[in-house]
Amino acid sequence: MKIALAGYGKMGHMIEAAAKFRGHDVVATIDISAPDASVRVSSAAELADVVEKCGADGVIEFTHPTSVLENIRALVPMEIPVVVGTTGWMEKLDEVTSLVKSSKGSLFYSSNYSIGVNMFYRMVKNAAALMAQYEEYDVAVWEAHHRQKADSPSGTALDIAKLIMEANPGKTEMIFDAFHEKPQNNQLHVSSTRIGSVPGTHTVYFDSAVDTIELTHTVRNREGLAMGSVRAMEWLFAGLENGSLTRGQTYNMDNMLS
Ligand SMILES: NC(=O)c1ccc[n+]([C@@H]2O[C@H](COP(=O)([O-])OP(=O)(O)OC[C@H]3O[C@@H](n4cnc5c(N)ncnc54)[C@H](O)[C@@H]3O)[C@@H](O)[C@H]2O)c1
Repeated sequence: MKIALAGYGKMGHMIEAAAKFRGHDVVATIDISAPDASVRVSSAAELADVVEKCGADGVIEFTHPTSVLENIRALVPMEIPVVVGTTGWMEKLDEVTSLVKSSKGSLFYSSNYSIGVNMFYRMVKNAAALMAQYEEYDVAVWEAHHRQKADSPSGTALDIAKLIMEANPGKTEMIFDAFHEKPQNNQLHVSSTRIGSVPGTHTVYFDSAVDTIELTHTVRNREGLAMGSVRAMEWLFAGLENGSLTRGQTYNMDNMLS
């Protein structure tokens, strides 16, 4: 495939390497400021113009939450597959879905492109449903990240906690802070540690009086995110070519990994 990259920051560089590793041509690296980008642009319209001129079969967008919507609005009507990694626009998903439908574009989005994390979500969902059948088992979520991370809990920990609560009707409330009294049975403790350079660890504990089960996902580096976005592009492009996917649709990891 000929792939254009919108955004040539940390992820853009890793996606370029992943795309080349998978045998694709990266025909443009487009950014508003990165000095090593092949083209610098100052607007979403310019971005779309560059993508069109470079003859890309698809575009992967990892820029900034303040730019992503304008970029989506400019890129989707071009009718080539658009894979979006930038986060922070989910409240506009309905608007974007309508635009994709009306303009016959195709868009893939995910807040986490790691295949491993998405598989972990499925394991947690199944495990939580299994364990919820036995009241002697309690459940909790713990995550650790590097000291540069500004927010806690992580978005991934929140997603994991939501999956547990969907699978276990006995857990109805997440508690993020320290407990100053005994936890209630309906409370799901989601705790965070910030330490050193940990790239991201998430553990789900199922605990009874006689044993503990721990499910842990450990990130080694962000290359898995880059590779996942390239795989999403391949999946979308191939699906549109062979007719298993249709234009005018918005897709996510659940569709790809089903
Ligand atoms: N979905 C996922 O799996 C996933 C994984 C990692 C990061 N992200 C998200 O992807 C985004 C980028 O992450 P990053 O680590 O590469 O950030 P980064 O800051 O290293 O790079 C972003 C780049 O986008 C450029 N940019 C900003 N606005 C632009 C615009 N309008 N047009 C073109 N280029 C523009 C910046 O100049 C910068 O070079 C963030 O929102 C981050 O949260 C998502």
